[in-house]
Amino acid sequence: MDPIIAANWKMNKTVKEAVSFIKDFKELVKAITNVNIIICPSSTSLYPIHEELGDSNINLGAQNIYFEKEGAFTGELSPLMAKELCKYVIIGHSERRGIFNEDNSLINKKLTAALDNNLTPIFCIGESLEEKEAGKSKDVVKKQIKEGLKGIDTKKIIIAYEPIWAIGTGKTATPDIAQDMHSFIKEIVGNVPVLYGGSVKPENIVELIKEKDIDGALVGGASLDAKSFSEIVKGSMS
Ligand code: 13P
Repeated sequence: MDPIIAANWKMNKTVKEAVSFIKDFKELVKAITNVNIIICPSSTSLYPIHEELGDSNINLGAQNIYFEKEGAFTGELSPLMAKELCKYVIIGHSERRGIFNEDNSLINKKLTAALDNNLTPIFCIGESLEEKEAGKSKDVVKKQIKEGLKGIDTKKIIIAYEPIWAIGTGKTATPDIAQDMHSFIKEIVGNVPVLYGGSVKPENIVELIKEKDIDGALVGGASLDAKSFSEIVKGSMS
């Protein structure tokens, strides 16, 4: 399977900045056909980026959806709206869980809504520093999987293992730690693609992608710069 390299821009980039990134980035990766490249910008940039991408080798994803299709849900993005423009959607990111109080049961509803609308979810799981230090990493991840994926067809999802202690901290999980968790995840879920996320950079992608069960990366900070993100995409082919 081709590696999957996804950019999670989080709450960054205006439309102007987003379109300018895509113009540069398209050029930098235009010859690459054996990496599944996904960009997940903020909602305001989905349409202009969709138009800018045309039939390029770059896919588009949303960062979140609500589980209802339409109605009185101020501020939310419907799966119907996302699917007009995107193939993918990030669900259950640790920032959604932590800052916006999303629990496994809400995440399960969002995963169901994504699949019902032909969106491929990138389902995020991972433990906090406190849980890691208490030796509970695998228990936490197992619970997130069991509750999050209840009744879900796992053949159609991507999982992203993002240990919270490695997000935006510069502390990448070592390839060994990530590999061990990825293989644990596949023991529970079966053979799904599992991406690693947490301080992925051009300097560490090659070591990470060498691991048997690391199938790609979900990249935050280092995806905001076209050159740096293109180097991660290229590094994933090694
Ligand atoms: P960083 O790459 O900035 O650590 O963020 C990782 C992440 O949260 C991607 O979803």
